[in-house]
Amino acid sequence: MSDGALETGRTAEPVGDAAVIGTAKAVLEANWLGHATSPSRGLYPHQWSWDAACIAMGYASWNQERAEMELRSLFSGQWRSGLLPHIVFTDGARYFPGPEFWQTERSPDAPESPKTSGIVQPPIHATAALQVYRLASDRARAVLFLEELLPKLAAWHAYLYRERARTEGGLAEIWHPWESGMDNSPLWDAALGRISFDAGLLPEYERVDVDVAEATERPTNGEYDRYVYLVSMFRELAYDSSEMRRVTPFALQPVLFNSLLVQSNRDLAEIARIVGADPAPFDARAESTALALDDLWDEEHAVYVDYDVNAGELVDVRTAAGLSPLYAGVPAGGRAERMVARLAESRVGVGDSAWAVTSLSPGDPGFQASRYWRGPVWPILNWVLQRGLDRYGYPTLAAEVRSALVELARSSGFYEHYSPVTGRGQGGEQFAWTAALVLDSLHGNGAGSASPSTSQAAH
Ligand code: SER
Repeated sequence: MSDGALETGRTAEPVGDAAVIGTAKAVLEANWLGHATSPSRGLYPHQWSWDAACIAMGYASWNQERAEMELRSLFSGQWRSGLLPHIVFTDGARYFPGPEFWQTERSPDAPESPKTSGIVQPPIHATAALQVYRLASDRARAVLFLEELLPKLAAWHAYLYRERARTEGGLAEIWHPWESGMDNSPLWDAALGRISFDAGLLPEYERVDVDVAEATERPTNGEYDRYVYLVSMFRELAYDSSEMRRVTPFALQPVLFNSLLVQSNRDLAEIARIVGADPAPFDARAESTALALDDLWDEEHAVYVDYDVNAGELVDVRTAAGLSPLYAGVPAGGRAERMVARLAESRVGVGDSAWAVTSLSPGDPGFQASRYWRGPVWPILNWVLQRGLDRYGYPTLAAEVRSALVELARSSGFYEHYSPVTGRGQGGEQFAWTAALVLDSLHGNGAGSASPSTSQAAH
């Protein structure tokens, strides 16, 4: 690392965008399971919910059929309650926790087939479906696809508002760190630290992730014990949401999850308009959740922070996820400008003129360059940020972030996350959503950013 800029290990022969696009498509192809795309064959051999949404956006500009199949496969695992599970399992692949651990057959709401997990991930699916429509080469077919997906997306959002919000149209909450998508973020430390359990009573389990990825780039065993404890509690409750809500020791209203939900509501309203359905309920939820999200503003640090429901207080940790309300058009009254002015605290230079935000600021005492969500650069957080920057009239900054995503992939390969110190790829390799978000950054974004930049902030 030199003068704050990350060395990207650039090779002598610069690789052009066409080659990056070709490699990105090859990464998606290599992870194609025949009906869906695994995030990374070794580490994540099934289908993951928010990965699938991003992957569909990556297919959208060049393979409409695959984009549709990706989302259709994911929704084949949707529960009768509307819950969209965070994993849809494929037969046979080695992963912990697999279907035999989740035992979702205990719930009357779970499908018999395919097998799934029993918790959720961030709701970015309506946004993905709309992007598939916007980039479609066959518009008539894309409208039919939206018609097919609208009731499923509506049921998914209805589940979140019915089972996961404590006030009508308010913030959705998560009951497991895996539901945040940012498993070992320091955002969850205090809540996880309050969980007390008898380690001797934990079900026996064996981690597979540390066999296929560097253990130093994964959560710790102590964190895994807590993840497993929460799953075993939920399966004992047969995944009954009212019981889960009553007893869960972990209940958070995350800024990122809710920012994606606000935008997904806006995009679901747009989908409704396209197919001639009523957009009003979705627009109303977008506005009410945006208002509730705006209350999570941290005036001192000019960023948004998560709310810990059980503790009854804001979480005293700031991460790049706190910038995501920009993406959803939430901040008003000069807040966006203040957020952008402080970006320097959480960004690292990539190559000559690009930069990316880290998952935790390098200046934070908890920063660890390799440890999953405790420091590395994650493509999804930067993809969310560039959309937010475009939305608020910072096209040059947005383009610089997109360049960083492309530059990291070009120089270091398509990885799950990247070291902010060396630029090295870390975690899962041949990583599908990294490929998808690079494709979107290179040629999907024109369509994707057209609507955010013309939309108004929520209030
Ligand atoms: N992200 C989790 C994992 O690392 C599970 O969804 O396996």
